[in-house]
Amino acid sequence: MTTERAEEEEEEEEKDEEQVVTPWDVSAGADGKIDYQKLVKEFGCAEIDERLIERIEKCTNTKAHPFLRRGLFFAHRELDEIVTAYEKGEKFYLYTGRGPSSESLHLGHLVPFQFTKWLQDAFKVPLVIQLTDDEKFLWKDLQLEDCRRLAKENAKDIVACGFNPETTFIFADASYMCPSFYTNMMKIAKCVTFNQAKGIFGFTGDSNIGQIGFPPVQAAPSFPDCFPHMFGMNKKSLKCLIPCAIDQDPYFRMTRDVAHRIGGYKPALVESRFFPALKGESGKMSASDPTSAIYVTDTAKEIKSKINKHAFSGGGATVEEQREKGANLDVDVPWKWLNFFLEDDEKLKEIGEKYGSGEMLTGEIKQILVDVLTPMVEQHQKRRALVTDEVLDLYFNSQKKPKVFLDLFREYEEREFCKWEKKASTSDSDDLCKALEQKLQLEGATENEEGCAIGAPKSEDWLKIRKARMQKDAPTEGSKSALKKAAKIKAAAEKKAAEKAAKAAAKAAKEAAANEAA
Ligand code: TYM
Repeated sequence: MTTERAEEEEEEEEKDEEQVVTPWDVSAGADGKIDYQKLVKEFGCAEIDERLIERIEKCTNTKAHPFLRRGLFFAHRELDEIVTAYEKGEKFYLYTGRGPSSESLHLGHLVPFQFTKWLQDAFKVPLVIQLTDDEKFLWKDLQLEDCRRLAKENAKDIVACGFNPETTFIFADASYMCPSFYTNMMKIAKCVTFNQAKGIFGFTGDSNIGQIGFPPVQAAPSFPDCFPHMFGMNKKSLKCLIPCAIDQDPYFRMTRDVAHRIGGYKPALVESRFFPALKGESGKMSASDPTSAIYVTDTAKEIKSKINKHAFSGGGATVEEQREKGANLDVDVPWKWLNFFLEDDEKLKEIGEKYGSGEMLTGEIKQILVDVLTPMVEQHQKRRALVTDEVLDLYFNSQKKPKVFLDLFREYEEREFCKWEKKASTSDSDDLCKALEQKLQLEGATENEEGCAIGAPKSEDWLKIRKARMQKDAPTEGSKSALKKAAKIKAAAEKKAAEKAAKAAAKAAKEAAANEAA
């Protein structure tokens, strides 16, 4: 073999051993591991540090989710800015998704959804969930109708994670596509050249043109005006935070690059490591190999059998070896899985110490994992059984009443209104609606001094809704106080007008008297 050829082959081999992380392919490097530090560098995101976690705990008054405490959600893009804005009273919305390619989810898919549920509860913000039935149609050997059906099946599993139906909107692309969504897609698409798309996503001459055109579909929901029924028509009404595993980063790198050009905010991201495959490589699990994953539909017997037969162990080959050397926790799948799903920090620490030192055997840690996963999956199945078509409708309803969103943002609006009221005490406004209109004109619909979204959706539509509500609805706690304020403004304006009239009358009387005397 010539030296040149040998060098070429060596190069080829090195390439083969490089880790690959794209939205469609995840495989570890030569050592069987994903190098997350390297990914952070390559992708240009940042690592989540202790300080940021503390700030999240403080501003939400909630203990951080184990995924966050344990560094499983480890990377971010501008999560710190979302937190800074939240500390000042701004809200945001969450956006996540699923590509429906299989009948049910595996445990790895639960990771972003469980975390998103925690974020939704902790920050009390709305959430949109995209089901990319179109993406799976374009990439997999599936009919579009199959993908639509799978989207519905997967949605049941997603709903079973416990999302709040009042503040969560789930949509499948092929059914939801609406004018404002399409408009966003087109604006994004025009900003990205084919060469850039090739660089980001690795498209080749063999990629079908549906695939090449797909990225704007996943990018668009990062802008609130894709959901006019929830957030109004202002692209900057709310900032967006996207929880996902790091494989989805390329979509949002692209989105962030074009955001300003289409007049929106860059979406922020919070990204996780991969929940490893049962057989051990640190990549994603494969839907086509059922023994590589545990599904949320698996029975207790299947869970036990899969873990005992297929879970890759870092323990010693024999009992003696394990007792002598202990387990290699870096590669042990039961240990890694417990890190995701065993909530008790103390217990986890104890297991790590005992198993790592050889005091605990492989069979024992596998049994602990079976005991953790079986009730978790069974409870999921029970909740899923309650998700009827009617329940699904609650989440898919694009006529969702915006009332809940007004309620979500009420506290903030009320505070803003008080500020405005002070500023506007000289105004002649005699009713709240006029006052609100003026406030919007004075301060801009959604912008504070730094040009940041202040959280409340306030397009023209919203103003109308609010007007109607204040005039007709039975006053709620919030609107009662707003009405009181309106009455105060009116009384002040009346008093001022009366004083002005009295002054004018006095002046006229004085002038008349002077004229008479003359
Ligand atoms: P999909 O269906 O491949 O995966 C759904 C979500 O699960 C994450 N994920 C994992 N997380 C941890 N460990 C694993 N082993 C694992 N496997 C998958 C994915 O990162 C994803 O968050 N194109 C997307 C659907 C989508 C989306 C989004 C995802 C549309 N819009 C916005 C996130 C955010 C997809 O096919 O995901």
